[in-house]
Amino acid sequence: MNLLTFDSHQKLHESGAGIITGLVQTNPRAILGLATGGTPVGIYQEIVKSFQQGIVRFQDTTTFNLDEYVGLPEQHEQSYRSYMNTHLFDFIDLPRSQAHIPDGNAPDLVAECQSYDRLLDQAGQIDLQVLGLGHNGHIGFNEPDHALISGTHIVELREETRQANARYFGSLGEVPTHALTMGVGTILKAKMILLIVKGQDKAEIIHRALTGPITTDCPASLLQTHPHLVVLLDSEAGSLL
Ligand code: GLP
Repeated sequence: MNLLTFDSHQKLHESGAGIITGLVQTNPRAILGLATGGTPVGIYQEIVKSFQQGIVRFQDTTTFNLDEYVGLPEQHEQSYRSYMNTHLFDFIDLPRSQAHIPDGNAPDLVAECQSYDRLLDQAGQIDLQVLGLGHNGHIGFNEPDHALISGTHIVELREETRQANARYFGSLGEVPTHALTMGVGTILKAKMILLIVKGQDKAEIIHRALTGPITTDCPASLLQTHPHLVVLLDSEAGSLL
């Protein structure tokens, strides 16, 4: 595990973006796993800057997002499709046909999960998976549970997750109750994982995830088993490590 702690968010964002753009420069056909949430926004901004400066191109790159809410219209500003458009896809040359996000409005959600896994299989191994961390240790929307699921699946969001994400919606009642998420098996199959964690409020859970027992009660703890895990932390999140 490679743990890097930054005293400024700007440096953290530049470092994260540098890892991603560096990979795409050496392998333009790279397959990227992308995350949403507040944490990676600054990294996506730095990637856009690099693209605008002509440092990197994404024409041959393929992306797979981790998750999507169930039942939010695609155009809803809090759908993860909207998020990706607003923060990254609208500003780079990645063909939309190569930018995959599970469809939380599919008429048959089980079939949608199966078809997402087929697409992932066809694409081959994810070269780099970007991850944020939920306050309860979730990755993607793989919530703490007595067992975890390997492939893409429908998940009922935990109350604490809905509360944490309510800050992005008008009220808790507007936060969807379900989501589709890539499973931990797919996440752990990525060649490299880039976990990004910011803020004092995540200090305890990142400490537990990286140094505590490996347990499905804290899905991020499974990342300890990954052979190529890079963790970018701000000093607040890293304060207990
Ligand atoms: C969300 C997402 C995760 C994200 C996490 C943390 O619910 N499904 O992919 O990493 O929770 O979000 P934030 O970065 O906003 O704290």
